Amino acid sequence: MTFDKRTIRDADVRGKRVLVRVDFNVPLDKGDVADDTRIRAALPTLRALLDGGAAVGLVSHLGRPKGRDAKLSLAPVAKRLGELIGKPVRVLDDSVGGEVEKAVRAMKPGDLVMLENVRFHAEEEKNDPAFAKQLASGFDLYVNDAFGTAHRAHASTEGVAHLLPAYAGLLLEKELVALGGMLDQPQHPFVAIIGGAKVSTKMDVLRSLVPRVDTLAIGGGMANTFLLAMGRPIGRSLAEPDKQTEARRVTDEIEADGKELLLPLDVVAAPSADAEGASGAAIYDVDEVPSNLAIVDIGPRTIERYVAVIKSAKTIFWNGPVGVFEVPAFATGTRRIAELMATSDATTVVGGGESVQAVEKAGLADKMTHVSTGGGASLELIEGKALPGVAAIPDR
Ligand code: 3PG
Repeated sequence: MTFDKRTIRDADVRGKRVLVRVDFNVPLDKGDVADDTRIRAALPTLRALLDGGAAVGLVSHLGRPKGRDAKLSLAPVAKRLGELIGKPVRVLDDSVGGEVEKAVRAMKPGDLVMLENVRFHAEEEKNDPAFAKQLASGFDLYVNDAFGTAHRAHASTEGVAHLLPAYAGLLLEKELVALGGMLDQPQHPFVAIIGGAKVSTKMDVLRSLVPRVDTLAIGGGMANTFLLAMGRPIGRSLAEPDKQTEARRVTDEIEADGKELLLPLDVVAAPSADAEGASGAAIYDVDEVPSNLAIVDIGPRTIERYVAVIKSAKTIFWNGPVGVFEVPAFATGTRRIAELMATSDATTVVGGGESVQAVEKAGLADKMTHVSTGGGASLELIEGKALPGVAAIPDR
């Protein structure tokens, strides 16, 4: 797939001060970075800019603060980035203001600094033009490498792209090529495995995938709504009864297109979806789930069906766990999907927060063709929505 946007390969960055939007919205644990995937993913762009003779100022959000919040400072992220890139990264006290601008103007080629959490200012999410102007001051160029935040039209992802010459970073390009290629020119058979708790958040994703795939496999809490719509007993399982009509519509569309819909054939059901429920868990056919139990994972016959479907696939997209994978006893189906994809010769793409976590936890991320750093952003891309952070970058 060709990528039409200007990238950093089209820019002369030598001697320039470059503002780089990254998505360093990473999980923290006791003040340390718990998962550095997003930080590592930004390294190729940062190295290319620094090696090319630029001075780099990084801008990112972390969490959803309401005003300044010391717990959401980017300091731990800068510390981890420093370890990865091999030199300390200084965090400025703020993302805008006279002191920040002074520090930016003082940067020399090869310098790397990080602005403090840009969401400490409410103007960021409002895409306030005056705030975008403050962010841009002192910089010569703007690079957006924050694929995970490209679906937000905020000052640091969209507004500033209209104030400085704007370019895509290498991660943004890689994500769009991988996900766009999968959607536009997939090799067939194309299998999409969609899980997660709620069908309501993924209905548009399912609709967009139906005409493109050969098999649509649905698991996790969202499969329960489909089973309910087919009149199956789901006991006390998580479901969205008000979405049954839409679930039926997706089922009808798949059947009308002559495609395969793979819903659970059997399930693991338990008295509760937490660790305590594990002792009372058993396997049931989907027609026989007892009324006092909740579905917590797919069963072995369903996994066998996945084995066959994945084996013959040439393209596989996976988003969302097919069980309550945080509880080890209910993680079998999700783990098996990660393992099957890892050993497949197909183009394998993993998109979205929890399925990425599952792949990372299994140590299989480097066995996939592409693991997306974007949750909401990758889903919006698949839904066919324009991503404001990408749209704001001029074409080549
Ligand atoms: C994410 O983690 O999905 C992105 O960083 C976007 O964060 P947001 O949903 O708070 O805008």
